Amino acid sequence: MSFPNVYNDDLRAEAYSTLDFPGTYYLAFRDLPSIIAQHVIGRRRALDFGCGAGRSTRFLKRLGFDAIGVDISSSMIEMASKLDPDGKYVLVEDGDFRAFAPGEFDLILSAFAFDNIPDAGHRRELLCGLRALLTDEGRIIMLGSTPDIYRHEWVSFTTRDFPENSQAKGGETVQIVMKDVSDRRPIVDVVWFHQDYVNLFAASELDLIAQYAPLGHEDEPYEWLTETSIAPWIIYVLKEKSARRLLPAQF
Ligand SMILES: C[S@@+](CC[C@H](N)C(=O)[O-])C[C@H]1O[C@@H](n2cnc3c(N)ncnc32)[C@H](O)[C@@H]1O
Repeated sequence: MSFPNVYNDDLRAEAYSTLDFPGTYYLAFRDLPSIIAQHVIGRRRALDFGCGAGRSTRFLKRLGFDAIGVDISSSMIEMASKLDPDGKYVLVEDGDFRAFAPGEFDLILSAFAFDNIPDAGHRRELLCGLRALLTDEGRIIMLGSTPDIYRHEWVSFTTRDFPENSQAKGGETVQIVMKDVSDRRPIVDVVWFHQDYVNLFAASELDLIAQYAPLGHEDEPYEWLTETSIAPWIIYVLKEKSARRLLPAQF
């Protein structure tokens, strides 16, 4: 299925390069250190799938991981490398993980990349490819947007110009505008519901072992809009299906 990657764009890479973890994004990353500490045993190698301008890769490095960022957008990879010249950022073809060895990573983080990937079959292929890169105890942590983010107003996002978002079914496109950057062109995402994710994980031979939906707190330094009552983000923690490890190699 042909779908524009709105991130393969120099202006958007420039916008992402200025983005740290403001406003609503703060909620996405606030709880990740403790979630990672709880679920990820090894603390060595991490892959940041869909690293963009490297914000999430630099986050992993600060947590002590030897992290590699990969993306299909050359604009994003160039920006990530410029912002972190000593970092490892790799431009990949869509779904091509041959640059990495099976069982190489203790943690694979996907921060918002799956929001932009249409077609359930392709999502499954990507997730199966990523699963193969996990160590035995490795975990995939998938951070993504809830359907609610496309229907409400937030500190960092507006969707008021896109009332049609609320009618979108799983796998259909939605639009959202980021308020923290000067590039106010709408982002075209694909909305996926929790059941879509549950189906995706089962089809990808992954067990969902935990999920988190972070809410804003009144004592935080933001004038939260919807964030205190409805979660804009969902964080899924996944591991390879237990049975796979027990089966003989030929199966
Ligand atoms: C919303 S950006 C997030 C970037 C970064 N993780 C962050 O938190 O700032 C999503 C990124 O996923 C990338 N992406 C989308 N589909 C991808 C794919 N099939 N393989 C690798 N990266 C992909 C896009 O190019 C984009 O840079």
